[in-house]
Amino acid sequence: MSICAIVAVDRNWAIGYKGKLLVSLPEDQKQNFKVKTMGHPVIYGRKTLDTFPGGRLLPGRENIILSRNAELSVEGAKVMHSVDEVLKYAASEPDEIFFIIGGAQIYEQFLPFCDTCIVSRIDAEYEADTYFPNLDNLKEWKPIRKEGPIDSVKGVSFEIWTFRRDRRYKNHR
Ligand SMILES: NC(=O)c1ccc[n+]([C@@H]2O[C@H](COP(=O)([O-])OP(=O)(O)OC[C@H]3O[C@@H](n4cnc5c(N)ncnc54)[C@H](OP(=O)(O)O)[C@@H]3O)[C@@H](O)[C@H]2O)c1
Repeated sequence: MSICAIVAVDRNWAIGYKGKLLVSLPEDQKQNFKVKTMGHPVIYGRKTLDTFPGGRLLPGRENIILSRNAELSVEGAKVMHSVDEVLKYAASEPDEIFFIIGGAQIYEQFLPFCDTCIVSRIDAEYEADTYFPNLDNLKEWKPIRKEGPIDSVKGVSFEIWTFRRDRRYKNHR
């Protein structure tokens, strides 16, 4: 099984502000995020669920939501209550790619178990309160591919970087 984080960051590795995305880039969402995650399980935190329009799940993908609330149930989704529970479930699907799609709490806790990160790097700086770990400063992460720059209708450009965990630094699985 493979665990891959997919994220959009600004120049400072910021990802969100006041519970919302910094900016929503349709080109990134349709041609990158949707294409790569479609058909695969997506794992995200309960606060990220709250950012989805109308609280709707992502279609065509198994939605796995993390919450510590034992009462929470979301129709059409699996609710899990710990990182361990998710990892055990993922281990039962050895041929699957699991995508970690946010937010900050979930990225941080799952990064040690990821082998790949797909990072849309937006060439802009925003006011922010939530961040992705800065992979440029982490020796175990190496960029292996770069797509773009791609101009967005939102007036900014972005590049899609793929980072791989260096084989010398085994992940925690
Ligand atoms: N730029 C991007 O690519 C991107 C992607 C996704 C999200 N975001 C942004 O990130 C921000 C949200 O991030 P966030 O860090 O505040 O929230 P989050 O990671 O989406 O969700 C946090 C929630 O997840 C649950 N949780 C966390 N760790 C858990 C664990 N070990 N076991 C069980 N449940 C656990 C808890 O839910 P309960 O409170 O229910 O217990 C917690 O409140 C928003 O601004 C959003 O727009 C950005």
